[in-house]
Amino acid sequence: MADAVRTPHRQPVEIAGLSHHFVVGGAEVPALDRIDLTIEPGEFVTLAGPSGCGKTTLLRLLAGFMRPSEGTVSVAGEPVRGPSEERGVVFQQATLFPWLSVRRNVELGLRLRKVDKAEREERTRQHLELVGLTDFADHRPYELSGGMQQRCQIARVLANDPDIVLMDEPFGALDALTRERLQEELLEIWRATGKTVLFITHSVDEAVFLGSRVLVMSPRPGRIVLDESAVLTENGERAAPDHLRALPRFVELREAVREAIVAGQQPA
Ligand SMILES: Nc1ncnc2c1ncn2[C@@H]1O[C@H](COP(=O)(O)OP(=O)(O)OP(=O)(O)O)[C@@H](O)[C@H]1O
Ligand SMILES: [Mg+2]
Repeated sequence: MADAVRTPHRQPVEIAGLSHHFVVGGAEVPALDRIDLTIEPGEFVTLAGPSGCGKTTLLRLLAGFMRPSEGTVSVAGEPVRGPSEERGVVFQQATLFPWLSVRRNVELGLRLRKVDKAEREERTRQHLELVGLTDFADHRPYELSGGMQQRCQIARVLANDPDIVLMDEPFGALDALTRERLQEELLEIWRATGKTVLFITHSVDEAVFLGSRVLVMSPRPGRIVLDESAVLTENGERAAPDHLRALPRFVELREAVREAIVAGQQPA
C-alpha cells in the first residue's frame, strides 16, 4: 500500500468569511453564514448538523463545484477555483459506471490522468486489496452489494491519491455491520496515508468515533456551533472500538455533539 501513496502535500484548508445563498424563484435562500475554519493537514474532521443546514453546500464549495457568494476557500494558500484531483469527493450514493468492471471503475481517474499502464495497474490492484474487492475486480457494479459499491467508489477516489478526501455521508445507506467495517477500514486508510479528511454524517456516534476533530453546524444558514478535538486514546494509542466507546471523553463528546444539534433545532 505505502508504495502507491505519495506523501501528501501538507495543505491546510482555509475558509474565511464564507457565506453562500442560493436564488430560488427570485428569492435568496441563505445556506451558509460567515464560516471561518482552518483544517490542518492530516486532520480527520467530521461534520454533523440538522438536515438542510448547509453541509453539502460547504463540501461542494470545498470541492470547487461552485463558487461562494461571499468569502474565500483556499487550499495551501491558493483560492479554490474549480475541482482538482488533489481533492477527491465521495458522494452518498456510489457513482460508478455500470458498463465498466470494478477494476476499470477504480482505474478510471488514473487513465484520464494518463498515468502509465504499469503504475495504473499496480495502484488499482493495491486499492482493490485495500477495500477488500480483489476477488470482485472483474465484476460489474450491479453485481455488487451496496456496501461493496461504496467501497469501490472509495477505492476509486483513493487510487487517484488526493491529498484531501471530502466525503458526504458515504456510509449513510449501509447496514450497521457493513458501516462499522467500513468505518474501521477508513480509519486504517487514514492512518496509513495521512490524508486530510472531511466527513459529513448524520450519526453523532459516527462523528465522534471517526473524527480527530468534530464540528457541528447550526440549522440553515449554517454556522459552526461546536468545534472540538476528539482524539480518543488509551495509554497513548487509539483505543479499540468497544473500549473507545466506553471512554469518558467519548461519552462526554457524544453528549455535547447531540446537545449542540438539538439546541440548534429549538427556538432561541
Ligand atoms: N442547488 C440548490 N439550489 C437551491 N437551493 C439549494 C441547492 N442546494 C442546496 N440548497 C438549499 O440550501 C440549503 C442547504 O442545503 P444542503 O444540501 O447544503 O444541506 P445539508 O446540510 O447537506 O442537508 P442534508 O443533511 O439533508 O443532506 C437547503 O435549504 C437547500 O434547500
Ligand atoms: Mg447533504
